[in-house]
Amino acid sequence: MSIEELEVIAQAMVAPGKGIIAIDESNATIKKRFDSVKIESTEENRRAYREMLLTAPKLSEHISGAILYDETIRQSTKAGVPFTKVMLDNGILPGIKVDKGAQALAGFPGELITEGLDGLRDRLAEYARLGAKFAKWRAVITIGEDMPSGTCIEANCHALARYAALCQEAGIVPMVEPEILMDGDHDIEVCYDVTEATLRSLFGSLYEQNVMLEGTILKASMVISGKSCPEQASVDEVAEATVRCLKSSVPTLLPGIVFLSGGQSDEQSTAHLNAMNQMGPHPWPLSFSYGRAMQSAALKLWSKDLVKNFAEAQKIVSSRAKENGLAALGQWHKAAKAA
Ligand code: 13P
Repeated sequence: MSIEELEVIAQAMVAPGKGIIAIDESNATIKKRFDSVKIESTEENRRAYREMLLTAPKLSEHISGAILYDETIRQSTKAGVPFTKVMLDNGILPGIKVDKGAQALAGFPGELITEGLDGLRDRLAEYARLGAKFAKWRAVITIGEDMPSGTCIEANCHALARYAALCQEAGIVPMVEPEILMDGDHDIEVCYDVTEATLRSLFGSLYEQNVMLEGTILKASMVISGKSCPEQASVDEVAEATVRCLKSSVPTLLPGIVFLSGGQSDEQSTAHLNAMNQMGPHPWPLSFSYGRAMQSAALKLWSKDLVKNFAEAQKIVSSRAKENGLAALGQWHKAAKAA
C-alpha cells in the first residue's frame, strides 16, 4: 500500500466532527468491566455487548473507526454478519489492538514495558486480511518517585516505533499511544514535563525507524493533574497545557491527534476536548478515541437487562458519540446535552 493510501485512512480517522470508539479491551480487562456491573464474561456476552456498541443507530455520523480486540475482529452479529463487514458497510473503519499488554520492566521496579513485537509482522498480515485499516499499541508511562526513568520512556518509544514501521509495511495505519497514567498526587506541571519528554522521545524514535508521519495517528493522554493531587487544574488549564505541550513536541505533518479518556469522567473528557477545540485552530485535528468515556453509561444500563435494554443502551452510545463529535468541533454545550 502506498503512503497516499495510508494518508487517506489516517485523515478519515480524524474527519471533522468524528472520532474513534475504543472497544479493544482484552478479555482480562473486559472481565473487570463486566464484573463491576455483574455480567458474566462469556464469549457470547462479550459478542452481544460489542454488537450493541457497533450497531448503535447513527453511530457513523460521529464515529470514524472502532478499535477491536483479537477475539472481536473474528466475531459476527447474531444474524451472522461479520462485525468488520457491518462496520465497513456503515463507513466505520475497523481497527485492531495489537500489543500484548504491559509487563514489569526488568531492573526498573514499578515501571512497565509493552510487549508484542515477536511475530507481529505475521499477525498484522492476518489482521489486514480480516479487514483492519488501522492498529493500536499502548505504552504506559507511570509517574511516581524517581519515575518515569529515561530508560522506560526510551524502551517504550522504541517499541512503539518498531510497531509503527511494521504496521505501515502491512498497509495498516499505526495509532501510537504513549499513555501517561493519571494515577498519583503529582500536579499538572509534572504531567506536562513527562508528557513533553515522552512525545519528544516518541517522535525521535519514529523518525529513526523511518515511520511516515503522514500515515500515523497519535493517541495522546491529556496534560492533567494526578488523580489524587489536592489541587485539580480547571478545564481551561488542562486544555491550554495540553495544546501547548502538543505544539512543543508533535510535528505538524501528523494528520491528527486523538485522546484517550484514561479514567476521566464522561463529562470531563468531553469538556476538555471541547475547550481545546475552542482554542483552535490548531496544526492538527484534535479528536477522541475514548474507551470508558464512550461506554460506561451504556454498559451500566445494558447490564440491568441484556435483552430489554439493548436499544436504550445503544441510544446512550450514540448520544456519547454525538457529544464527543461536537466537542471535536468545539461546539459542545454542557447544558444542552445531545439528544
Ligand atoms: P480509555 O478512554 O478508557 O482510557 O481507553 C482508551 C484506550 O484505548 C486505552 O488504550
